[in-house]
Amino acid sequence: MAWKTTESESLLLQAPLRATAGGRSRRPVSGPVPVVTLGLIGMGNVGTAVVRLLQENGDLIEKKTGIRLELRRVAVKHLSKRRGIALPAGVLTDRAEAVVADPSLDLVIELMGGISPARRYVLRAMESGKSVVTANKALLATWGAQLLSAAGRSGVDLACEASVAGTIPILRVLEEGLAANRIERIIGIINGTTNYILTRMAERGESFGAALAEAQRQGLAEADPSLDVSGEDAAHKLAILAALAFGIQVRQKDIFVEGIDALTPEDFAGARSFGYALKLLAMARSEEPVVELRVHPTLIPAAHPLAAIRNEFNAVMVVGDASRETMYVGRGAGPMPTASAVLSDVIACAERRLGRCPVKEHAGPVGPRRRNVFWGNRKVRRMGEVVSRYYLRFPIHDEPGAIGVLSSTLGRHRVSLSDVRASVVDADRATGIVEIVTHGAAEREVAAAVAEIGRASILRAPARLLRIEELRT
Ligand code: HSE
Repeated sequence: MAWKTTESESLLLQAPLRATAGGRSRRPVSGPVPVVTLGLIGMGNVGTAVVRLLQENGDLIEKKTGIRLELRRVAVKHLSKRRGIALPAGVLTDRAEAVVADPSLDLVIELMGGISPARRYVLRAMESGKSVVTANKALLATWGAQLLSAAGRSGVDLACEASVAGTIPILRVLEEGLAANRIERIIGIINGTTNYILTRMAERGESFGAALAEAQRQGLAEADPSLDVSGEDAAHKLAILAALAFGIQVRQKDIFVEGIDALTPEDFAGARSFGYALKLLAMARSEEPVVELRVHPTLIPAAHPLAAIRNEFNAVMVVGDASRETMYVGRGAGPMPTASAVLSDVIACAERRLGRCPVKEHAGPVGPRRRNVFWGNRKVRRMGEVVSRYYLRFPIHDEPGAIGVLSSTLGRHRVSLSDVRASVVDADRATGIVEIVTHGAAEREVAAAVAEIGRASILRAPARLLRIEELRT
């Protein structure tokens, strides 16, 4: 996605024959080929995949676009680390400053992650006239507005398609494909790590700990998985989606976030018994004059297409006032899928930098593409005011009147019950379980009722509260 564009600077480095990133020489498509020069900061898994994809598909990209992408500088932390990829001599450096300051570069790809010093490098690159492509959702979610202003001041592009939902071009969908729509809702599975964990818990009955350990073994979860399992990573991505969808500046504290680490096999069994699947959803909903922004484990109808999104796959459903429901599916993580999104931004920035229309027949100066980024001004609904249905599970002492306490307390808080199931778990120890699905109710009322029930001495363990999203199937 290009957050903003600019005066198109013509950087036509006429280069009929040039070395690719891998050092192979090659023939031009026809006549002099414009070259756009790239610097890369960070050569971890995704950075390495970007280099590999440039080497493998550079010729194809040139055939499609008529532009040669030339990777000139790559900044890494450790020069001596083996990366299994060949780069021409002089490309690698351990000084990121040298890359962002290099006057021969048109564009910098930032893949080092984290906020500091990545923010400094991105700003310096833009200040020195370079467009920036980044996959850094934490940076964008926290400093997006400032970085956009800086891009505007310098007249360069800041593009970040790879920051949300990996390979899925969801930012372009919002910016271009659905541009004519008033976006009503976004509902996404936008964290591959947690979707993998939830898939194992749902399909194999594994505990959270066992599923997480397997995700780590598969390289799908970090050694420190807290950003993913806490829901924070999905919240960063939701902030970017909501900014584009509603034209608003989102602060992280505006997003209600609940992670998956407290989920148990009983939650999945309970959801299933009422006809639901359990997913970590990131949701943004517009209800003039407010918006709702939340990330939490959610029960969705088992027959809904989002319920079928397994393992590390992502899916984003976008509802526009004219388009109605649309859905986009793909790999949300992984080096090559992310590299695909990174290079799509690089190509788009390169084309705009050369003042080109992407369709070759219409090539020629087309002028910069300008967009207003923050055109909306909306309040975010407090979580207590959010209305949804709930799945509640109460491990009770099997005593006379226990179910009465549950229903009367919920009733007093105007929480209406849609389905109730009670079962005795252990007759000798007089223990039971009551599971309830409610009609739509305000979160504030449901939470107050559950807290009151907790004080009524009928529970032998804390109650469970999970939200339900009644999506049309
Ligand atoms: N850990 C992230 C995920 C990587 O699983 O979605 C991509 O942002």
